[in-house]
Amino acid sequence: MCGIVGYIGKNRAIDFLIDGLKCLEYRGYDSAGIALKDKKMQVIKSLGRISELENKINEMSVIDAKLGIAHTRWATHGVPSEINAHPHTVGKVTIVHNGIIENVEFLKKQLLDDNVLFKSETDTEVLAAIINKYYDGDVLGTLEKVFNIVRGSYALAIIFEDKDELYAIRKDSPLILGVGDGEYFIASDIIPIVKYTNQYMLIEEGEVAELTSSGINIYFNRKKIKKDILKTSVMSQDREKCGYKHYMLKEINEEPIVLKQLIDKFFDYIKDFPKLSCYEEIHIVACGSALYAGMIGKCLFEEYTNIKVICEVASEYRYNRVLYDRKTLVILISQSGETADTIAALRKAKKENIDTLAIVNVKESTIARESDMQIYIEAGPEIAVATTKAYILQVAIMGLLCYREIGRNEKLDNELGRLPRMLKEIIDHRDEYKKLAKKIFNNEDIFFIGRKIDYAMALEGSLKLKEISYIHSEAYQAGELKHGTISLIEDDMPVFAIITDPDISDKTLSNLEEVKARGAKTIVISNELINDQLLQVVVPKVSAFFQPVLVVPVLQMIAYEVAKLRGCDIDKPKNLAKSVTVE
Ligand code: G6P
Repeated sequence: MCGIVGYIGKNRAIDFLIDGLKCLEYRGYDSAGIALKDKKMQVIKSLGRISELENKINEMSVIDAKLGIAHTRWATHGVPSEINAHPHTVGKVTIVHNGIIENVEFLKKQLLDDNVLFKSETDTEVLAAIINKYYDGDVLGTLEKVFNIVRGSYALAIIFEDKDELYAIRKDSPLILGVGDGEYFIASDIIPIVKYTNQYMLIEEGEVAELTSSGINIYFNRKKIKKDILKTSVMSQDREKCGYKHYMLKEINEEPIVLKQLIDKFFDYIKDFPKLSCYEEIHIVACGSALYAGMIGKCLFEEYTNIKVICEVASEYRYNRVLYDRKTLVILISQSGETADTIAALRKAKKENIDTLAIVNVKESTIARESDMQIYIEAGPEIAVATTKAYILQVAIMGLLCYREIGRNEKLDNELGRLPRMLKEIIDHRDEYKKLAKKIFNNEDIFFIGRKIDYAMALEGSLKLKEISYIHSEAYQAGELKHGTISLIEDDMPVFAIITDPDISDKTLSNLEEVKARGAKTIVISNELINDQLLQVVVPKVSAFFQPVLVVPVLQMIAYEVAKLRGCDIDKPKNLAKSVTVE
């Protein structure tokens, strides 16, 4: 949450900063701000999107400055407002911050005792004030003192009024340093940087980066250390919409390509990984859609491998008492690799010496770096806040891991070979989803039901719909609806049923009849044509390992078309951020 960028070098800082903020807008977009430093420092801020900020930059007298920092915000401490927007300046110190300071009240009390006056309600202003309090001209010494007393997570870019350099420091929040030709960059992820350079550096907790107009110095314990310069494979065109109206639609349409790439490499890539059957228990831990991908994994692993699987949301897992009394593998699933709760769950397992496997999209991320084993999703950058292509690949990996356990055979290998094409055909049926969307977009409540693996898919269908269309939606295990929730069913209320598991399809159909009898408008998504269903989408029937990969895009496309008809801001839904780096 929140995106930060910084620039120092031979060109105007403002151009990278605005461009970079636009790339990071998915991380938060309730307000934004920029600080530029030439002979003097100037800060501008605005409420709302980056475009609002852009309208103001011509007012800046230091517009040609070659040093600057900027921020796009997802509010934690303090409402979205111009005053609470970053950068925050106290005395000689101006900062942008992604993260959350936990002992803010303690720090603030000390500062109030020193008669410091605060303008905003943010923890970041307190942080700026505490840095300013200790600042004596020696940056490294000051930062060492301050970060011994500050608790919480932070990625910070800092400008000191009396210095010509730019500083960065991080703990539990992501930060990348870009190494260009006579220009150096700070960003919350690699995307803003790739248009300018493919070379980057990572900094670790406790290290301080000093960016000058001629290079980057990294210090640990005040001593200069050597850092490797890495190369990213992310391309500049990955940032573009390529003619699609929304990133979400572009990313759904990329699913067949990235699925094929995954299938082509997968078995070779994991040939040296231990089999799941080496473990007596598996814990799958994740948040949001990644959790629902994990639930699909749980259904498949338990059904086909006889291994006990616990699938739990990371924000609970990190605090629950977890009994690791058997040989356990903890699988962390995360698109960003930076979700704070999932990182905490990973560290909890590692502390107990439990094997950890990360299924992660962003290779440079914390989860990828700290886990014992990694399967990279390789979906490429995902810009739309609502995850689609990364989720599909997470689901595909669940199926592939399970398929590997039972032993490969020709029939399923052939099916796997045809999967990307089948997926493409499903996505291409756009008119069908548009028609369906027209029938439901005016409703304000929509339910999804399913059993077992179909329930796991229903959860994702419901989440996708509500997050981008703002229609209230819930997913239920089909048999559970009648224990209370059925009282909410009214005439014309849409109820989606996912029906792909032949063993329990009759049961779900009976539950669907129960809601139909109470006036619901029912919509079936299945892998067989079911009689007497007015509204249904039928996808090709494949083995259970791969079936979700063909159902989920239907749910994604329906959510997309509904949100479009409702005129929603599809790529940047309100209140959300793609990368949730606070707990
Ligand atoms: C946010 C996103 C979701 C995502 C979840 C977990 O809530 O909006 O789309 O599923 O975080 O993110 P991760 O990066 O760990 O997969």
